Amino acid sequence: MRIAIDGPASSGKSSVGRLVAEALGIGFLDTGLLYRAITRRAIDLGWFTAPITAADVAGAIYEQVRRDLTELARTTDVQGSGLSFTMVVGDVTLADSQLEAADVELYVPAVASIASVRDALRAVQRNVASRGGSVLVGRDIGTVVLPDAECKIFLDATAEERARRRALQRGFAVGSSEHQAILTSLIARDAEDRARPVAPLVAAADAITIHTDQMALADVVQRVMAEARKVAR
Ligand code: DC
Repeated sequence: MRIAIDGPASSGKSSVGRLVAEALGIGFLDTGLLYRAITRRAIDLGWFTAPITAADVAGAIYEQVRRDLTELARTTDVQGSGLSFTMVVGDVTLADSQLEAADVELYVPAVASIASVRDALRAVQRNVASRGGSVLVGRDIGTVVLPDAECKIFLDATAEERARRRALQRGFAVGSSEHQAILTSLIARDAEDRARPVAPLVAAADAITIHTDQMALADVVQRVMAEARKVAR
């Protein structure tokens, strides 16, 4: 069984996906980490000198950067199995904690908007999914990476609710300046992910959309499990 879970940033995809995979005894991959890993390497290699958006990176002056990022993507893979995968770019292994930084979040929508980067990462994602069943979470899993997945879910929630959850997760008070910054960054990232011409964030026509604003994590997991059981029959 392959389960595709897509949705905007901080919609709970990873928490839900991991718990569902654990309950079903299948693999789990958060595909956003692949885009983050390439972005982390590019920042560490000094390739970004000023903030760039998806629109900027499409321009002629970024042609070499696009080529270099594509080369990085071609050397990107995952190590591990089951619920535990680590990102590897070339010969550099990246811990998840290195991929959560604010600078990564600033540049990652631009990196993820490059078609040739996405092409290179598709094989890695499909390879994981083919290993005896998996839950893959991302933005284009149901539409592009696994268009024939048996179960497709689109998790949605308002930006306000997603920012509130993320702020609390990171230990910031609701209403704090950090909470406000998280909301602003989420809204900007969503806009870039939805507007990009390649593999934009959109629910697959045959996905089940779950609005999670009023739902506890355990209830979302139950709901996804119920959808998975329906197609497993
Ligand atoms: O889910 P996340 O916040 O870790 O994703 C990081 C970035 O990668 C985000 O800007 C969207 C992009 N992404 C994507 O374009 N396609 C995916 N399948 C997963 C993530």
